[in-house]
Amino acid sequence: MQDQTSPGAKTFYIETFGCQMNVHDSEKVAGVLMARGYKPVAGHEQADLILYNTCSIREKAAQKVFSHLGTFKKKYRPGEKVIGVLGCVAQQEGEEIFERAPQVSLVCGSASYARLPELLDQVETGNRRVMGLSLDTDECFETELTGRENPFRAYLTIVEGCDQRCAFCVVPMTRGPERSRPSDRILDECRRLVDEGFTEIQLLGQIVNNWCDPAPVRLSFAELLGRVAEIPGIRRVRFTTSHPRYFTPDIIEAIDAHPALCDQIHLPVQCGSNAVLERMGRHYTREEYLEEIRCIRSARRAISISTDIIVGFCGETAQDFEETLALLEDVGYDQVFSFKYSPRPKTVAGNWEDSVPEEEKARRLAVLQERQRQIQLARNQQWIGLTFEVLVEGFQPRLQQAVGRTTSNRTVNFSGRREWVGRYMNVRVTAAGPNSLVGESLEPGESSPGATT
Ligand code: SAH
Ligand code: F3S
Repeated sequence: MQDQTSPGAKTFYIETFGCQMNVHDSEKVAGVLMARGYKPVAGHEQADLILYNTCSIREKAAQKVFSHLGTFKKKYRPGEKVIGVLGCVAQQEGEEIFERAPQVSLVCGSASYARLPELLDQVETGNRRVMGLSLDTDECFETELTGRENPFRAYLTIVEGCDQRCAFCVVPMTRGPERSRPSDRILDECRRLVDEGFTEIQLLGQIVNNWCDPAPVRLSFAELLGRVAEIPGIRRVRFTTSHPRYFTPDIIEAIDAHPALCDQIHLPVQCGSNAVLERMGRHYTREEYLEEIRCIRSARRAISISTDIIVGFCGETAQDFEETLALLEDVGYDQVFSFKYSPRPKTVAGNWEDSVPEEEKARRLAVLQERQRQIQLARNQQWIGLTFEVLVEGFQPRLQQAVGRTTSNRTVNFSGRREWVGRYMNVRVTAAGPNSLVGESLEPGESSPGATT
């Protein structure tokens, strides 16, 4: 987004916490605001309207929002700025936000964004307590006006909300029931994104593979992937998050059949112990999960696999934790996002005893992260000497380095030029760390055939 103030125009600043879904929601909110004549600015100091798009998945994330709001109270006079709280904390705390942070005048949960234009009308007419918190919205928050931040990769929500109710998770309470977008609308939007110059599409959903086509053609999720991948001009398609309960082999068949579908699957396991998986309400066993991993490994291309893990869930024993560590080795993940369990209000496990002490959670997390670091290092080192196509996503002027991403979602740094940003280039890997690779470009300054620049 550009910082482009013109005299007299109202300005806004959005700060985003949390997941890709939140990042994309902020892009949509920015689109609605820009269509009303608001201009984006780079910091809250210059903004007339400040929006916090919040995350409440763990307690720390939720606390951060209130500490930020606290600093504003000291900084700005009452009424100097219009301050809004969006997203999961807004949904969860609701009206109480006005009590805890009286400088806030807009509170809108993520399931109510379709009402944002109407809510903004009320804010603009000076209403000091505007609220949108309904969860029973039928429509998804669709807007043609999305102000996308990344010029190459477009996020596109295909399913909103979640009905799963994993015992630890607030998302069903903060994002409402699951609703899928019709395939024709999704495919139209993909074609429009190609016309705008995007070459990579990332399909989003809390359980993206539980997408269920409301359109009469009733495409399956795997068929949708194929249709998106076939759109001329699309070079990469990613999708996240897949839930193991709904993972089907036709997803792998689609990846085999369509080169544009990326060599990457994010399949959160949460834990390696069947007893804990059952208490979490995940609806699969370790054995069923490993069967899915075998299916992914049987693909014609090497697909990189990432996961989410929670340590220290209620009742997790030392033995349960050992089983999670063993699972890391069994699968050989390329990336793991790991978290200490944080009890959340209104969840199934919210009333259970948080039995693993904080220090033990921290210890388990450190052990797990160190084990995974070694696994990743070993896996990345196998790439040395091989050549991959990367999309150049950034440039670090200080190091004169281009930052590229492989289809398997690995970052490769290589000596390059600013003009290469946005190009697809072939890069040979020369060194590997646990989190990224180093390489050298094989075709200086050239984009590979068919690349859109
Ligand atoms: N819809 C996705 C992601 C949900 S939130 C899915 O189905 O996996 C992202 C991750 O945050 C989860 O996968 C989980 O690992 C973690 N998480 C969710 N609730 C948590 C909690 N209460 N404490 C710690 N981690 C949590
Ligand atoms: Fe949360 Fe489980 Fe849904 S992790 S988002 S309730 S699948």
